[in-house]
Amino acid sequence: MKRDSTSGPNRRRFLKGAASLAGGAVLGGSSAFTTLAAFAQDPPNCPTPPSGGTPFALGSDTRPIVLRKSIAFLSAAELTQLRSAYAALRALPASDKRTWIIQADMHALFCASCNNSPTDIHGSWSFFPWHRAYLYYYERILGSLAGDLAHFRLPYWDWENIRPLPPSYATPGDASNSLWDGNRRSALAGGGSLPVSDGTSARISTLYGLTDFDSFGGNSFSNGALEADPHGTIHVDVGQPPPLRHDMGSLGYAARDPLFFAHHCNIDKLWSGWNDLAGGGGLPPNAYRNPTNAGFLNLRWSFYDENQQVVSISAADVLDHQNNLRYIYKGPIFRIPPLLLILECELICCGPGPDPGPFLKVSEQVRETVIKELRANSPVVLVLQGMAIPPGLSGNFDVFALRGE
Ligand code: C2O
Repeated sequence: MKRDSTSGPNRRRFLKGAASLAGGAVLGGSSAFTTLAAFAQDPPNCPTPPSGGTPFALGSDTRPIVLRKSIAFLSAAELTQLRSAYAALRALPASDKRTWIIQADMHALFCASCNNSPTDIHGSWSFFPWHRAYLYYYERILGSLAGDLAHFRLPYWDWENIRPLPPSYATPGDASNSLWDGNRRSALAGGGSLPVSDGTSARISTLYGLTDFDSFGGNSFSNGALEADPHGTIHVDVGQPPPLRHDMGSLGYAARDPLFFAHHCNIDKLWSGWNDLAGGGGLPPNAYRNPTNAGFLNLRWSFYDENQQVVSISAADVLDHQNNLRYIYKGPIFRIPPLLLILECELICCGPGPDPGPFLKVSEQVRETVIKELRANSPVVLVLQGMAIPPGLSGNFDVFALRGE
């Protein structure tokens, strides 16, 4: 894992800068949402929101548990499948409930962009579970259009590692590419990189230092730190500049850009990774855990599924994404253990010869710790910090132990 040394100031919030507070009907008590009126951003149509519908039944999704991958690691076949799924979505007849535009408007419906918005799922603890549920049904729709509901999973744009706008979403830069969107900031549109302070690993480390959900993910009336930065900053920097802000920079339009789903998949990954830190020795019992009060767990929203049926799902239903929604972000052996030891090591670069490195030189303490843990059959995760990775490149290290030293 690399970490950047730059840390981004929380300089912009997704469409909230000039917005004023407005009251509204909310689930589970008092809340506040911001109005977008100042930006005149209402989408052209706000369809009737789905309501009611068949409640999600725990255990009903029995598909295999499949890895959601980084866009950078999709195989050629997976990328082709993703493109054809989006192409099929865009080609659905207007009467269909799954269309690209209705799905995008679903996001608008839940964000006060539409006058008939039932509630705003931004700016509160609804942010994480609602977007997880939205991605789940969107992923099912794309998967069924691709003819592989069982295995299709959304990819994520891990901007903390890959700074340029993913090439498959940028080129071809026209409507022949179902992942392309014409409304992106010109600096990124052709494959340019995010501003240096957006979504850095350093920012994620800071966020992972927040152990309570209130601070990280919000509460019933205000947002958590991640929602503003990096979530909002990246939205704003991908979308066109103000005043238009289309598509990604505007709540009413954001989900028209296929990149929205790759961005939110990464946000969802970060929430999942934060939960993985729970259970560490010496931490308060609720550290890195989701809220357990009914006001949160009983939040419930309606969506269209891949059969155009109205379904509903609660926050409680989405918390265990592995078992209930059938995806993971990393295999069990890569789960970050609760106890992190920060140990000295050094990268040695680069010698002559057929394999010039770089090599990782570890201290005696690291060597002893690793050997002891392996003998105890504990998984060992090495986190490499402070490594400079050249722009546009990524890589992996083979870690092997030399016997007899
Ligand atoms: Cu619903 Cu990224 O916003």
